[in-house]
Amino acid sequence: MPPILRTGRLILRPFENDDAADLLRVFAEPDVVRYWSSGAWTDIAQAEAMIAEARQAYRDGGLARYAIALVGTNRLIGICNLRGFFEQNRRCELGYALGRAYWGQGYAAEALEGLLDHAFHVLDINRIEADIDPRNEASARLLEKLGFRQEGYMPERWIVHGEKADTAFYGLLRRYWDERTALPSSAHATG
Ligand SMILES: CC(C)(COP(=O)(O)OP(=O)(O)OC[C@H]1O[C@@H](n2cnc3c(N)ncnc32)[C@H](O)[C@@H]1OP(=O)(O)O)[C@@H](O)C(=O)NCCC(=O)NCCS
Repeated sequence: MPPILRTGRLILRPFENDDAADLLRVFAEPDVVRYWSSGAWTDIAQAEAMIAEARQAYRDGGLARYAIALVGTNRLIGICNLRGFFEQNRRCELGYALGRAYWGQGYAAEALEGLLDHAFHVLDINRIEADIDPRNEASARLLEKLGFRQEGYMPERWIVHGEKADTAFYGLLRRYWDERTALPSSAHATG
């Protein structure tokens, strides 16, 4: 089970079975899945399947998927995950999504600061990668704010909702992170 991570306003915690309704609300929003390969969710079974996959992965490894929850309510408002662990090279990939109602309030940056700090300093990862649609300005800005650097561009790498979509490829090295966060960490593990 991944440890619970805390930031000022957020708790990053493992999924619970009763997160399904809140999770469905996040992915039922067309804006949230605009640049994802799947369409907006319509059925609670899709949320239950994501929770089951996450909980299985807590046992098997390979995917560390967190619920992003508000401190006051412990209700899920989004998700973030590390996957594609490549142990030999101490590398993995980052993914994230936040419910539409919570955008533009610094929550994604806050959550990912906690997750990245954990990845570099507890899991001892050296390099984290992210593959985004270059039209996804919020995602690009978020990554740049966190210190990721754009390293590549791959045209027509995906077909998203029937449309060819490019990839902007980003990477964050632990040494970039440590240079950026000369200040003390904002997150700590508690469990
Ligand atoms: C990407 C996403 C997680 C950003 O969440 P958020 O909580 O609104 O982001 P933050 O408030 O922490 O903002 C981070 C930075 O991005 C900027 N930003 C946020 N939304 C933006 C937008 N629509 N356009 C341009 N910049 C934007 C913020 O201003 C901030 O930069 P700043 O501090 O320099 O001003 C959210 O838009 C989302 O869930 N999108 C749908 C899912 C998705 O696309 N996931 C990524 C798939 S690869």
